[in-house]
Amino acid sequence: MAEVRRFEHGSRVPGWDASVDLRKDPAGVPDPATTPVPAELRAEIEAQMAKYPDFRSAALPALAAVQRHHGWCSPEGIEQAACVMRLTPGYLTAVATFYDMFDTVPTGRNRVYVCTNISCSLRGADELCHRIEQLTADDADIQVKHFECLGACDIAPMVSVNGIYVGPVELDEVDELIDDVRNDRDPLPRKQLRLRPSADTLPMGDGQ
Ligand code: FES
Repeated sequence: MAEVRRFEHGSRVPGWDASVDLRKDPAGVPDPATTPVPAELRAEIEAQMAKYPDFRSAALPALAAVQRHHGWCSPEGIEQAACVMRLTPGYLTAVATFYDMFDTVPTGRNRVYVCTNISCSLRGADELCHRIEQLTADDADIQVKHFECLGACDIAPMVSVNGIYVGPVELDEVDELIDDVRNDRDPLPRKQLRLRPSADTLPMGDGQ
């Protein structure tokens, strides 16, 4: 069985314990006059803000928009979102660093999240993750992360590829899966949760 890698703080997930830099002065709300924001990003964030009675509730979709636009939640992108939302960059950084799906350091274009929580782990997720990490170790374009339950335990062991849920993934399907990711193909379409019928049609026996 593959050894599960753990970080210094004991978790399989890196980064949540990164501390703030207390030597820096707190940043204020960015000045619109000196903070250019791409029109498309601004429009997306403003549309999200309009959906909520408290505009700060749009922090998550605003950060998602920043990540889509910049590829990660870069300081520049967070500052742009803070400028539109009239918040401090620190407010949005605190939100971004809390959630594993936001990247506050530059990362690969493809995000492969492997669930290693209990249901998936019991069905071989640790070996699956190990195999995926082996195959992608030299590929800067693919980011692989362990995840706690991604909420699709019925297809354990499962993987999220750029938000597409795939499972159950067998060990001998990993090569094909990573090949799909590398070549911008739909990942393992036969195993995608979104393509499954909501109920199997079982053949009816005599007398039923
Ligand atoms: S334990 Fe893996 S999706 Fe729930």
